[in-house]
Amino acid sequence: MIVLGIETSCDETACGIVQDGKVLANVLRTQEVHETFGGVVPEIASREHLRLLPGIVRGALEEAQIGLDKVDAIAFTRGPGLAGPLLVGSAFARTLGLEAGIPVYGTNHLEGHLAAVRLAHPVEPPFVCLTVSGGHTELALVEPGPRFTLLGETRDDAAGEAFDKCGKLLGLGYPAGPIVSKRAPNGDRKAFDLPRAMPGDNLDFSFSGLKTAVLRLSKELGPEAVQARMDDICASLEEAIVDALCRKVVLALEKTAMPGVAVCGGVSANPRLRQKLSELGERRGFWTAFPTAALSTDNGAMIAAACAWRLETGNTACMGLDVEPGLPLQTPPDA
Ligand code: KG4
Ligand code: ZN
Repeated sequence: MIVLGIETSCDETACGIVQDGKVLANVLRTQEVHETFGGVVPEIASREHLRLLPGIVRGALEEAQIGLDKVDAIAFTRGPGLAGPLLVGSAFARTLGLEAGIPVYGTNHLEGHLAAVRLAHPVEPPFVCLTVSGGHTELALVEPGPRFTLLGETRDDAAGEAFDKCGKLLGLGYPAGPIVSKRAPNGDRKAFDLPRAMPGDNLDFSFSGLKTAVLRLSKELGPEAVQARMDDICASLEEAIVDALCRKVVLALEKTAMPGVAVCGGVSANPRLRQKLSELGERRGFWTAFPTAALSTDNGAMIAAACAWRLETGNTACMGLDVEPGLPLQTPPDA
């Protein structure tokens, strides 16, 4: 089965094509126009998706060396994400499907991130999933179906948001996650004692205190010292976020008695998170699985893969064509 996936939930215009767990094409364009605003402007993102989509989809078909007539299903991201950008992707996919006589399926972006892990490792439920992106930080139980039950989530900022907001305070570019993770290995992870929030037995996260702590630290140090010690600050910031994530993963595995964890979303590209969690897994006897670095952040192949997963299991009840900006990972009881 060949599935073409269209992703437009935020600022990546993307199209991927997968066939039986293999990526035939993965074409995307990150909309650089938002950089000057320090964040994504939804109206501009919608217009850019509309402008870029035809070329991106054509490029993916060329990369896969197939015509649209070989595509069995078209998937688009129906949520969660920004309403305008989602609507552009939905309208584009539905028009393409109507024109070519191909069935179209609205796909959950968060299931897409997990499906990206399955493109790298053939993990089968049940297991625990940690989704860490710019908008989400969630722990879920994944059961055959696939069915998702939320175990815990952030009470304020997402992990990627924490990287990005702290990075912005420090004068780093956007998104700051990759910049912080590039500088961190040059710094001392113990240089500054930043808070690890949400102690205790629950599976929720909180990262907003980190922002306040970084703001206070940068005021105490002053602009020159901040520049001079940027690597140490990045290392300490990354360690605080990674520590908090690792602790809750271990707790979730203990509580659910699951054999392993799949980690996905943009922050799963973080090398320190991969290293620490893998070491913990080796010590404590659980498996860890990550997407390839290229498929960690938003892309179209993951949307195609998530759609294919549901088509394989015949479980498509929750794949409506309407967009839902707040779509949760939790599988509804009737699906
Ligand atoms: O999944 P994604 O591409 O988009 C959303 O669905 O949000 O995730 C983007 C987030 C951004 O916050 C970015 O800073 C973060 O992932 N990110 C990273 C790294 N690469 C991307 N955070 C930490 N370390 C990285 N290497
Ligand atoms: Zn995402």
